[in-house]
Amino acid sequence: MNQLSTTPEDKYCRSQWFRDARFGMFIHWGAYAVPGRGEWVRSVERMSVADYQYAVDAFNPDSFDPHAWAETAAAAGMKYAVLTAKHHDGFCLFDSQLSDYTIMENGCGRDLVREFLDAFRARGIKVGLYFSLLDWHHPDFPTYGDDHHPMRDNPEFADHQPNMERYTEFMHGQVRELCTNYGELDLLWFDFSYGALRSEAWRAEQLMAMVRELQPNVITDNRLETSGEGLGSIVTSSPHSYSGDFVSPEQVIPAEPILDDAGNPVPWESCITLNNHWGYAAEDHDWKDASTIIRTLVDCTSKGGNLLLNVGPGPDGRIPEESVRVLQEVGEWMSRNGTSIYGAGPSGYQRPTWGCYTQAGATLFAHVFLQPIGPLALTGGVKATDIASIVALADGSPRELCTDWVVAAYPDLPFISMGPTAAFTYRLPDAADTVFALTLNEPSARG
Ligand code: GLC
Repeated sequence: MNQLSTTPEDKYCRSQWFRDARFGMFIHWGAYAVPGRGEWVRSVERMSVADYQYAVDAFNPDSFDPHAWAETAAAAGMKYAVLTAKHHDGFCLFDSQLSDYTIMENGCGRDLVREFLDAFRARGIKVGLYFSLLDWHHPDFPTYGDDHHPMRDNPEFADHQPNMERYTEFMHGQVRELCTNYGELDLLWFDFSYGALRSEAWRAEQLMAMVRELQPNVITDNRLETSGEGLGSIVTSSPHSYSGDFVSPEQVIPAEPILDDAGNPVPWESCITLNNHWGYAAEDHDWKDASTIIRTLVDCTSKGGNLLLNVGPGPDGRIPEESVRVLQEVGEWMSRNGTSIYGAGPSGYQRPTWGCYTQAGATLFAHVFLQPIGPLALTGGVKATDIASIVALADGSPRELCTDWVVAAYPDLPFISMGPTAAFTYRLPDAADTVFALTLNEPSARG
């Protein structure tokens, strides 16, 4: 494969590991954890650099244990992890020679990015870095009149003149540092383009050429030219070199698989928060439960997408206990059912009303979210002749197709017997998602 190639085939090949992994950890962490009101606190509260300095000075995470983070991710069944190396506030969690607004200069003195990368690689987890294209600390970045800058409507900045040439020189330089000084990166997560600040405003062609030269195998998201609300040129027949390798829907799950205009599947990854904030938010206890996460992961997989699930560690470096608890429960399900997710994708059948199908090779996985009454109807185009065998995935116990009188009126529709008699309403062992693995006869083993 030509690493610099942007052909759909080559791009699709580069992201094979990503599409097999399906499930990753997003980690939003930085000085904004000190106020604990989310990573946009400066913008939302129109906070000046000077007023924010207390957070930078106080950010010295004495309980930061990247190996514990990696263990939490591994136990949840997550196969990759993405850490914010620098968010919109411009404060770097890495050692940059281009800025003194870094974790090496604020009294902490620990290269948190390096420690994260080392610990997760040691745990066998693929590693990615999130890098903000915006920088609300840099003097040349658009300020007054910008859509998001904390000083966007502060008259003291009315005469500010941005200098995108100097700014992009700095921004490219920091990306070069991350791509040069931290070993092989599996994923770069740029964030985000808006208004006129997209594509060549970032000098994206030059940036991606440099990234490809330094990190030929890395995959990137599509936010050099769009953001969570867009798809970008990756879905066209002539993608830009900076179109990215996957689409990055945010806080939403696409209704259908994402295809390019030639009908080829396009990799995508929905990033979602566990509560309602990316960065640590002390007062946000609106946690999604494990069942919601499990079903969302299955939903993404069934449409050829990934789930990047976020945690927001606190100022001391610990992932909130509520997040860890949900991830542990998700991990217990993944330990029994992961083969229906990893390397799986859309099936050739229509989605049933009781849950979802995923497929990997000749195995069709029936994900049952709703408790059936009596036998389970394998709707969506499945035929009895398609099926060679059935087991309950979690424990391997065999299941048979139902031939009892209760389904006699539906001879063309296969049903899985749920218990010793057709009228028996077998209690699904996993209320979140009980999975049945159906080995398909050829040629019905369509993917
Ligand atoms: C949005 C938010 C940003 C967050 C990103 C994650 O762009 O503004 O704070 O890092 O989503 O996808």
